[in-house]
Amino acid sequence: MWRRRCAWTRTSPARSRRAFPSACTLRRAADFLLGPEAAHLNISGVSGLATKTSAVEFLLASIFQHFPAHKGRIAALCFNVKGPDLCFLDRPGALDDADRRRYERLGITPQPFERVRYYAPCKADGVNLNTLRTHPDLVGDVEPLVWGLEEVLDFAEVLLNRDDIDAKADAFIDFLSDRVLNKEFDDGFGGSHRVQTFADLDGLFRAIFDGLELTGRSDMWRTHHIATIRKVRNRLSNISTRCKGLVTDDGPSNDLPWGRFEDRTVYVVDVANVDALGQDLVFARAVSKLREHLERRDLGVEAVVVFVDELNKYAPADGPETYVRKMLLDISERGRYLGLVLFAAEQFRSQVHRRVVGNAGTTLFGRMDADELATPGYQVLSPATKIKLATLPIGELMVRHPHFTQPIFLRFPRPAVLRGRDGVERFPPATDLPFEEAVVRQLVRLDRRIRPNQVKDLIAERRPDDVRRALAAVRRTRPDDAFAYFRKLLGARVAPAATPAREPVPPLNPISEEPY
Ligand SMILES: Nc1ncnc2c1ncn2[C@@H]1O[C@H](COP(=O)(O)OP(=O)(O)OP(=O)(O)O)[C@@H](O)[C@H]1O
Ligand SMILES: [Mg+2]
Repeated sequence: MWRRRCAWTRTSPARSRRAFPSACTLRRAADFLLGPEAAHLNISGVSGLATKTSAVEFLLASIFQHFPAHKGRIAALCFNVKGPDLCFLDRPGALDDADRRRYERLGITPQPFERVRYYAPCKADGVNLNTLRTHPDLVGDVEPLVWGLEEVLDFAEVLLNRDDIDAKADAFIDFLSDRVLNKEFDDGFGGSHRVQTFADLDGLFRAIFDGLELTGRSDMWRTHHIATIRKVRNRLSNISTRCKGLVTDDGPSNDLPWGRFEDRTVYVVDVANVDALGQDLVFARAVSKLREHLERRDLGVEAVVVFVDELNKYAPADGPETYVRKMLLDISERGRYLGLVLFAAEQFRSQVHRRVVGNAGTTLFGRMDADELATPGYQVLSPATKIKLATLPIGELMVRHPHFTQPIFLRFPRPAVLRGRDGVERFPPATDLPFEEAVVRQLVRLDRRIRPNQVKDLIAERRPDDVRRALAAVRRTRPDDAFAYFRKLLGARVAPAATPAREPVPPLNPISEEPY
């Protein structure tokens, strides 16, 4: 879009020659789309016909190929919020000759993204991944996204704000973060605790309650009322149950590579099957971490495009205040200075929070619903433009951009990546593996020399929690000899006389009614 030629093919002649942007304007579009001049992109239109997700994929590919190196390094963090939508960005999709010609004219190579890193939380069994990219050929490059107490405590308010969280509870959470977490801590009843996991924290809580009861002391513990402590305990100890698979009770965490983001790389975080609370936590933590690192200039890249689809769900104009919406508002209002850019898509623009859509420097419209066009937000458009928008063919978009005096209609080629729908047909998701198999798969991924039977023999009769913990530690440490390290963590084992029959682990997360 910022090349000498526009990254799109105009479909209708501008009414006046002057309305056609000059080459100079187009080159400056990079500054306009990604900052510092303006920032953010919003695209809306009806489901399936407006090609919203496709347009963003095409634009990202175009940015990665043509964003000038002297402007810095750039990456994208895409939240996959719907089925398999963004699960195959590294696989080539079908293009026809017309698409190829368009790519050629635009000077863009029609190829899938070269570097894509996938992250998905585990399912409740702690070993199978909660994503549709589980085909054996592809699942190897999906990293588990697992957070422990430390990661969650920073964002505990996300999980508490839905209820009647108060200043006292807030203060107690701060106390836990500042004085207790990862420190040698004396509970005041003779016990010493080093709290690193939810399980450790529960140990401390029990010691406090038992201590107060045994000593017959008042209802206060270090200036905190016991009711406040109970409240925080209930909420916190629930977290690992409510977000099972994303939040671990006692294992080490595995996070996005903060500080090591790479140039022209897409990071896909699959939250499509995560419940609303977990999604709130993922959005809050991911966006806050991005902001924190961009502020310190140590993320690894200078700019990040955050792509969030389905804004009608995540940033509705009305409805309860959620952290996702708060984070989206924050990016659209303050992200530009930091190099944090929001690309967002929704079906009904009129029903998205005004400040989120209002801050987008570039606005695209695909085929629009006539009822939507009748809402007050579209009064500025002429009746002829509205008719055109309501009948816009697939692959055509209208651009509203402050540099152009009137709306411009454009055509763009299909993105060169495999569509989610085609992806799950070509790479059908694997059914959940039994616990042992899933452990084997994860270990083999870390070290291809590992033989499955070795692992199965080792973990037979072990407690799944111990195995999960050992696996997570191997993942975090990345030792040269993964099997030896794994065996060491589990301790030496005497071979059992006979291999007991093992129950397969049942799938624990209910699959939604939707086809994907
Ligand atoms: N440039 C294009 N030319 C022709 N067809 C296209 C083009 N881009 C996308 N399509 C096709 O249009 C269909 C819908 O695209 P897409 O999934 O991007 O729509 P969407 O607006 O995101 O829909 P939803 O709101 O349901 O998510 C896809 O089948 C895709 O292959
Ligand atoms: Mg879509």
